[in-house]
Amino acid sequence: VLLCPLSAVEVHSIVVDEGGEDVRRSDFPDNFLFGTATSSYQVEGAFHEDGKGLNNWDVFCHVPGNIKNDDNGDVADNHYHRFMEDVELMHSLGVNAYRFSISWSRILPRGRFGEVNPKGLSFYSKLIDNLLLRGIEPFVTLHHHDIPQELEDRYGAWLSPSIQEDFVHFAKTCFRSFGERVKYWATVNEPNLFLDMAYVRGRYPPKHCSQPFGNCTAGNSDTEPLVAMHNLILSHAKAVQAYRDKYQRKQGGSIGIIICTTMYEPLRDRDIDREAVQRALAFNVAWALDPLVHGRYPPEMHEHIGGELPEFTREEEEYVKGSVDFVGVNHYTTLYAKDCIHSACENGGDRPIRGFVNTTGLRDGIPIGDPTGKPRMFVVPRGIEEMVNYVRDRYKNVPMYITENGYPSLPERNDQPNNPLNDIKRISYHKAYLASLLKAIKDGADVRGYFIWSLMDNFEWVDGYSVRFGLYHIDRGSLERRPKLSARWYRDFLAASTTAP
Ligand code: NOJ
Repeated sequence: VLLCPLSAVEVHSIVVDEGGEDVRRSDFPDNFLFGTATSSYQVEGAFHEDGKGLNNWDVFCHVPGNIKNDDNGDVADNHYHRFMEDVELMHSLGVNAYRFSISWSRILPRGRFGEVNPKGLSFYSKLIDNLLLRGIEPFVTLHHHDIPQELEDRYGAWLSPSIQEDFVHFAKTCFRSFGERVKYWATVNEPNLFLDMAYVRGRYPPKHCSQPFGNCTAGNSDTEPLVAMHNLILSHAKAVQAYRDKYQRKQGGSIGIIICTTMYEPLRDRDIDREAVQRALAFNVAWALDPLVHGRYPPEMHEHIGGELPEFTREEEEYVKGSVDFVGVNHYTTLYAKDCIHSACENGGDRPIRGFVNTTGLRDGIPIGDPTGKPRMFVVPRGIEEMVNYVRDRYKNVPMYITENGYPSLPERNDQPNNPLNDIKRISYHKAYLASLLKAIKDGADVRGYFIWSLMDNFEWVDGYSVRFGLYHIDRGSLERRPKLSARWYRDFLAASTTAP
């Protein structure tokens, strides 16, 4: 039985306005993609079914103490078994695109050291077919944090050049199997963020770090993230080369990468903090994008840590340069940046990830988080316009998709204590960010889509299930999906496109 929750409930327009700006679907181009996003480990579950191999997150989450409340993605939202229902949820929202990722270890349980898993291929094939039947474009991420554990055990995953061959093998398997139907490919999700968490802060597998970031014993946080990013850039570029050589012309799709793009503003009205902003952006956003567009690491990184940066050979530079058709922009928040080269800072500034800069929350941003703890993020709508303009200016107006934008509800904060479905703050957030995005588009930025993170509440990495981003609420007992007010708002916003004046 296909459930269509939105059409099965009372339908009426939502009048929610907390001062959020008014923005309409018809303000955006007709062919603009409006979607929702998820990733495999965060929603699928079925972690050990139908031939799937174990991945790094399966293993990591089973070690007590790694994840809040010792949660894990063993079952997650059980999307693997409920995907038909989830496609219907999207259909009832009226989205025309869905961003999801392919679990590498479901397709290739042992990477290139074993066979392709036909049941894994068949799951994604059915998902894609059902999306297309509903007029929803699949927007597919190949790597969204999870990687077959065997590749970690054999050679240390991203720390070894061996990963390049494995990634290309995985990518080609996906292009070959799904490329006739998938027109949007993103190779990797947020490399700048996950490498920081994996090799600097020791919070994601393989939990490497060094003082002062944590208590791990393994790793060298000065060099490992640089080496891992280098291997990742080469993996990306080789996969893109394979796509362009063999599949792209015939299949007619496009391929890019997705970056975590926190915006920064100077903490103090001083040149050194304005420079810190530029460094923070370069070490964070441009770290991967400069090579992929211009063929070399950012000049700001060369200036400060030049001797430590791995080098591309002439031949590598050739295929790395220009290896994105689009940039995926994941944007949530804006922080202050404080200089740590000429000023005293705790930890000497976050290096090499943020370039000798310390960051902190924006005073005029609305903090979201547990009131007794550190805020998780700040609502600063102008940040999305500033970020899109930064990418536009630095990368010759490369086509962009906002591949994630979303609002976290933390139960501790009790925004709406009696009813988690009344997420009016999430609605205000999206309205305000969309209005700001629109300004950048009107100023000429080539933005082609916007995806809300997330379709439904899901496994939020080290926060487990304690942080909820969904338009749909997931009951952790029954896994029932129920629309929040934000789901109704998104549906109304999208539906208005056909009737707008
Ligand atoms: C970024 C990541 O891509 C996604 O996996 C995560 O759940 C969201 N942001 C929210 O933190």
